[in-house]
Amino acid sequence: MTQPVSTRRYLDNAATSWPKPDAVYAAVDAYQRECGVAVGRGATRIATGLAITVDRCRQRAARLLGAESANRVVFTFNGTDGLNLALNGLLQPGDRVVTSVAEHNSVLRPLWAQREFGGVEVEYAPLDDQGLVNRDALRELVTPETTLVVLTHASNVTGTIQPIEDAGEITHSVGALLLVDAAQTAGHVPIDVSSLPVDILACSGHKGLLGPLGTGLLYLCPGMEELVFPMRLGGTGSQSETDEQPATMPDRYESGNHNAPGIAGLDAALGWIEEQGIDALHQQSGALTDQLIEGLRTIDGVQMYGSSTPAERVGVVSLNIDGIAPHEVATILDQNFGIEVRPGFHCAPLIHKSLGTDSLGGTVRMSVGPFNTADDIEAAVSAIREIAEAMRTV
Ligand SMILES: Cc1ncc(COP(=O)(O)O)c(C=O)c1O
Repeated sequence: MTQPVSTRRYLDNAATSWPKPDAVYAAVDAYQRECGVAVGRGATRIATGLAITVDRCRQRAARLLGAESANRVVFTFNGTDGLNLALNGLLQPGDRVVTSVAEHNSVLRPLWAQREFGGVEVEYAPLDDQGLVNRDALRELVTPETTLVVLTHASNVTGTIQPIEDAGEITHSVGALLLVDAAQTAGHVPIDVSSLPVDILACSGHKGLLGPLGTGLLYLCPGMEELVFPMRLGGTGSQSETDEQPATMPDRYESGNHNAPGIAGLDAALGWIEEQGIDALHQQSGALTDQLIEGLRTIDGVQMYGSSTPAERVGVVSLNIDGIAPHEVATILDQNFGIEVRPGFHCAPLIHKSLGTDSLGGTVRMSVGPFNTADDIEAAVSAIREIAEAMRTV
């Protein structure tokens, strides 16, 4: 795999991936310099060429996620956008939602608003000591009154992959819907919505999918468009003779001009992922994650969080060093070692209570991408070792 030349050791791919494949930069640049028109708003040769790119991107996204057809995939502006559309478009007063304490604020905050102002009841499933949503608790919380279960596919704090199949089975057994937040798994692990009990799935386009910022995807299984009201109404470039919002997919949810440079970049990124193969990418990030975990495990004074089973994790590893705050560790890593990580609560406030890291200022999070190398991981482990040793001698 060719690696773009970089002297940076970027281990914050869970926030957004960097670097991107060269083809992504080229596609965004070509769009900006040579195309520049709006999607679906013209009949020129240039506009037709752009429509082909947008369509190819949707087809590639559908293939990667295992969607029935490309028009089940909606372009959004990020993972948060898709989750807001799904939650606010679906929920009604009297609905009862079950979610987990592992969720990101892009789920927790829309649910908070629905709870406070929308007459929706929300319950939060706890985690076990491996960071997995407790299956028994989920089974107890999900009752015939439950209308929706919302679950992260993998935590952006611990990297633990949740048992979506079990959750789906429990959810569907009472006739409720399952919404999955795949922000940390899309592009990292194989996902097949046609064989998973998933009704709606949202993900970012700029994390594991390697597209530019400002991109995201929302998959809705057939029939969902009758239940999810579109949250942004307006021009779609289609059915312009009427003032009614189109009922057809994906136009129903794509009002306003698209992020065309972003989609051009995402199309190139998905093409690159297809070339590498999702299984190969998964294997490669698994090897780097194992190396990181094994390295950190040998250091006295380092606490790690999340599942101890490699198959239950994505390449997100949270840690703390005894006696020093996560923000301070991240600053030292950046300034003294040139290693970029993220400290803090990572927009997932509830999981820190469960991990006991709420009083520590959260965690130091390292997250790998396809352009990280074994050398990056070795450098990160060695830097953490140095900091932990220094703390032991203070
Ligand atoms: C688990 C999880 N869900 C949702 C999001 C939100 O994604 P986006 O940044 O694309 O809005 C993130 C981003 O970090 C995340 O980690």
